[in-house]
Amino acid sequence: MLESSTQDLSTDALARDPDGTRDQARLLDTQRAFDSVAPDYDGPRGNNELIQRMRVTLWNTVQNLLPTGSHIVDLGCGTGLDAVEFARRGYRVLATDWSPGMIARTRERARTSELADKVDVEHLGVQELARLEGSFDGMYSNFGPLNCALDLPAVAAQCARLVRPGGVLVFSVIGRICPWEVAHYVRRGRFRRAMVRAARGATPVGMNKHTIWTRYYLPREFYRAFAGAFALDDYRALSLFMPPPYLVDRYRRRPERYERLGRLDDALGAWPLLRDMGDHFLIVMRRR
Ligand SMILES: C[S@@+](CC[C@H](N)C(=O)[O-])C[C@H]1O[C@@H](n2cnc3c(N)ncnc32)[C@H](O)[C@@H]1O
Repeated sequence: MLESSTQDLSTDALARDPDGTRDQARLLDTQRAFDSVAPDYDGPRGNNELIQRMRVTLWNTVQNLLPTGSHIVDLGCGTGLDAVEFARRGYRVLATDWSPGMIARTRERARTSELADKVDVEHLGVQELARLEGSFDGMYSNFGPLNCALDLPAVAAQCARLVRPGGVLVFSVIGRICPWEVAHYVRRGRFRRAMVRAARGATPVGMNKHTIWTRYYLPREFYRAFAGAFALDDYRALSLFMPPPYLVDRYRRRPERYERLGRLDDALGAWPLLRDMGDHFLIVMRRR
């Protein structure tokens, strides 16, 4: 399934960083950051109640679009929570990630859940998709791995090569407009942090004393990279009324009140204008 190592680059990326060294260094920063948190990523950092709520939305969206038995790819699988859940629901999953630490966690999870025969696990960054062979019914990516892609058009071109006509992409992507985040940091006088999502291009975001190079998107900015080969089926806000996951302590103090906000997300998150905001957005595209 995997061919020898190569990195895909669009012409834009070649113009920005002709020999690729800057992007390579940034990818390694991001890899180190996620390796450093992989051992405890299922704790509050990677899977609290607010994350789980968004996770279920992606699970059910994929399940509504693709029949069980479909062969799907997880881009940026983290510790494999989604990959194993989809295997449990009857899908064949190829789980990929750029962090060797995360990949080790996914392998272990697949083994201990006794679903290893339904989950293939490959250490593979989204910038290396040219190494992958095969035809897939769909791909999903949860909680922002594609925000770490430094050359999204090149990733989109590989998705187009790998997903069969009629197949789907279901991605949850970190959005640009998160009212909760702006209010939270402005109240604390952290104005630069409040505006981090306004940055153009890849911006350094700290995690665990490391750097994740992150690009933020409006849904339409994100879709632009995929528009040549994929039709836009749908998109919606995730955690617009609910606070972002790092504010889970607020939720824990008054869960009933925040569950009401969660129900607003469910009811209104796909409305025009509202769907362009939120901590993340969930976007569904279909291969032409
Ligand atoms: C916020 S975590 C989400 C993990 C997982 N999808 C989940 O739902 O828990 C982001 C993941 O993206 C991975 N990642 C970062 N850059 C990547 C890249 N260039 N290619 C593939 N995966 C990447 C990280 O290693 C990390 O596992």
